[in-house]
Amino acid sequence: MQVTFQEYRLAMSTEVDAVGKTSSRLQFQQCKPADLTLEHWITRWEQQKIGFHLDTVHEMLKKHVDVMLNGRKQIRIFFPLCGKAVDMKWLADQGHTVVGVELSEIAIKQFFTEQNLSYIQEPVAGMPGVDIFKTTEGQISLFLCNIFDFSSLIAGQFDGIWDRGSLQALNSPDRQRYSKLLITLMAKGCRYLLDTLVCTKSDFEGLPIKISEAETRDLYGHACDIQLLDSSDTLTGKQKLWGLESFIEEVHLITPKTDSS
Ligand SMILES: C[S@@+](CC[C@H](N)C(=O)[O-])C[C@H]1O[C@@H](n2cnc3c(N)ncnc32)[C@H](O)[C@@H]1O
Repeated sequence: MQVTFQEYRLAMSTEVDAVGKTSSRLQFQQCKPADLTLEHWITRWEQQKIGFHLDTVHEMLKKHVDVMLNGRKQIRIFFPLCGKAVDMKWLADQGHTVVGVELSEIAIKQFFTEQNLSYIQEPVAGMPGVDIFKTTEGQISLFLCNIFDFSSLIAGQFDGIWDRGSLQALNSPDRQRYSKLLITLMAKGCRYLLDTLVCTKSDFEGLPIKISEAETRDLYGHACDIQLLDSSDTLTGKQKLWGLESFIEEVHLITPKTDSS
């Protein structure tokens, strides 16, 4: 028997002891971590394997949004690898302008449909094959493309960034390229909230992949000041089944070093 729980499966194993007596037991076994290719994500959306999606505004965003806003109104907020995060509508309803980038057309269309927003879809000049989906007033614009095809030349720089789950969604060799791109998208005074997971079972290699404090500093520390805002254990029954002892969600505030000099 096999039941797959993302990267873990519940499997029946049978053992024979010294006197030839057999016994069976159910065990969670770890599978190989997924190769996080573009196809992997496209297929997940096609099959609606989107356990990461939350139907309510992310608690960490609600808790720390004032740090990102820093007293500013009507700012431009970037959502890299946005999925269909309801947080985008929440911030747009507060008067901010939201720009997202997402690979899956299904995700983008579900976002507008589920949030009851009318939208227009049009090609992006100078980006063959890339479409932009935007609300009629232009408050929310989502680019349908690979994040690595996006740049400040296309949509300018941003005053705030809410980044939840992006580093975990990329293969490790792409993360350096990703952080370099994100740094170029930060306007002067930009306040970037990075939400990551740090799991504390040393042999845990499945998804969600852990992002250590050291890796965050390695990715952003050369150009940005980094401050740990929050570190909360959000372990639930689901993660206990994965064999984890703790499931820590961390939020860092990242700001350009040039702002402090
Ligand atoms: C872990 S999910 C996080 C989604 C969203 N940030 C949220 O909080 O619900 C990662 C998302 O990134 C998208 N994605 C993965 N690789 C991408 C890439 N190279 N460019 C653009 N989007 C990508 C996936 O389709 C998926 O929707």
